[in-house]
Amino acid sequence: MNYDLPALLSHVDAHIEDSLERLKDILRIPSVSTDPAFADDVRRCAEHMGGLLRELGMETTVHDTEGHPMVVAHDPGPGTDDAPTILYYGHYDVQPADPYDLWESDPFDPQIVDHPDGTRIVARGADDDKGQLMTFIEAMRTWKEVHGSLPVRVIVLLEGEEESGSASLDPFLESHRDELKADACVICDTGMWNRTTPAVTTMLRGIVGVEAILHGPGHDLHSGMYGGAVLNPINALSRIVGALHDDQGRVQVEGFYDDVDEPAELETWQGLGFDEAAFLASAGCDTSVGEAGRSVLERTWSRPTCDANGIYGGYQGAGGKTVIASSAGVKLTCRLVPDQDAEKIRAGLIKFFEDRTPPGGRWEFLGEGAFPAIRVPTDSPWLQAALDGLESVWGTSPVLMGCGGSIPVVGSFQSILGLDSLLVGFGLDDDRVHSPNEKYDLSSFHNGIKSHVAILGRFAEAASA
Ligand code: BES
Ligand code: ZN
Repeated sequence: MNYDLPALLSHVDAHIEDSLERLKDILRIPSVSTDPAFADDVRRCAEHMGGLLRELGMETTVHDTEGHPMVVAHDPGPGTDDAPTILYYGHYDVQPADPYDLWESDPFDPQIVDHPDGTRIVARGADDDKGQLMTFIEAMRTWKEVHGSLPVRVIVLLEGEEESGSASLDPFLESHRDELKADACVICDTGMWNRTTPAVTTMLRGIVGVEAILHGPGHDLHSGMYGGAVLNPINALSRIVGALHDDQGRVQVEGFYDDVDEPAELETWQGLGFDEAAFLASAGCDTSVGEAGRSVLERTWSRPTCDANGIYGGYQGAGGKTVIASSAGVKLTCRLVPDQDAEKIRAGLIKFFEDRTPPGGRWEFLGEGAFPAIRVPTDSPWLQAALDGLESVWGTSPVLMGCGGSIPVVGSFQSILGLDSLLVGFGLDDDRVHSPNEKYDLSSFHNGIKSHVAILGRFAEAASA
């Protein structure tokens, strides 16, 4: 299919305000998947996304699942037999906005904010993943408005449980395997190398989580009457959590590093010129803490970790309360690297706690679901098409990089659909994903749309080459 890239790109420019309005509409829906209190909003968001895709003329279904809905849309493309099918994935659910009091504006009332680094949109999900998924949906709209059709067949799959463990994903993929058959797959949920250099991510860490609750006394106790004579679960649990790392920052879970290798990608990554100071500044830090003898890039991309994400127990209200709580808990996740077995790590974590059970204590363990680390091949013509499309918009060579985060669907696409993913996204390190005041740069949004416009064209060319 012949196409006019300059016309497509200037159409994006001319309509960027409308694109932004459509993004704001989605950001106003608090689709927090992990908290059942938001279930109706998650559904409303799914219906809203379905409506947007129908508006583009796509055959769209909002599928019920055991959990949150899955949105699937099909577009026939240019109507030629040899057109390839590209599956596009994004997730319309978001992380909780808590703690609300640290937001400078309502997390679900998107604000356009000027900043020395460029204008940005601030809201929960502005980057992860509503801003990102709208880059490809708006790109598809552009193609339709300029050329009347897409240059390739397209399937759009939007998940509503990515931020809460993707429990319905695998059964859904298994039962819709035929409908989701594609030649290549694009996931827009990752970052750029820096503000001006786009990237394709080729390695993601995996994840496994455990919640460990230590039960002690039969009920909360007066700390004067009983303190010093009975188990204090908070004291005991915090000592055990403290023992998870040694003073070199190495995780003390048995067998934790057994299957960990030095990745072949390391040399390439080291040549990218990682700006450690800027990365730390994006975290509000001036020093890195972690495994001794490892660079920040290794610590976040190629080394496994164990982090407490939450710890609770006892009195949290205003003022003090002289009490010994009957229990205390910790929510932990480990980030995994290729070849680590998630279930083995989970078992190791549980054993770590059990081996340290204090007298008078009893454990309860919660948490399921685990996702291995992922590598995607770097020799496919689809990847080359994506790189070419990115370069034509950003005017600079994209880099291949790693990512410390996890995207469960990548492994599921590999194992269930036999499909490798192209991870193309426009997030920046300072976007504060999962944190208060999450933002997405308008340059990411605008050039992200243009990038997907160009990549769609390159896919069509790659297929006919
Ligand atoms: N978009 C992120 C993954 C990501 C994080 C990409 C940082 C690039 C930079 C994704 O939505 C995410 O946060 N996933 C969760 C998955 C988990 C809840 C199973 C994660 O990594 O914590
Ligand atoms: Zn995401």
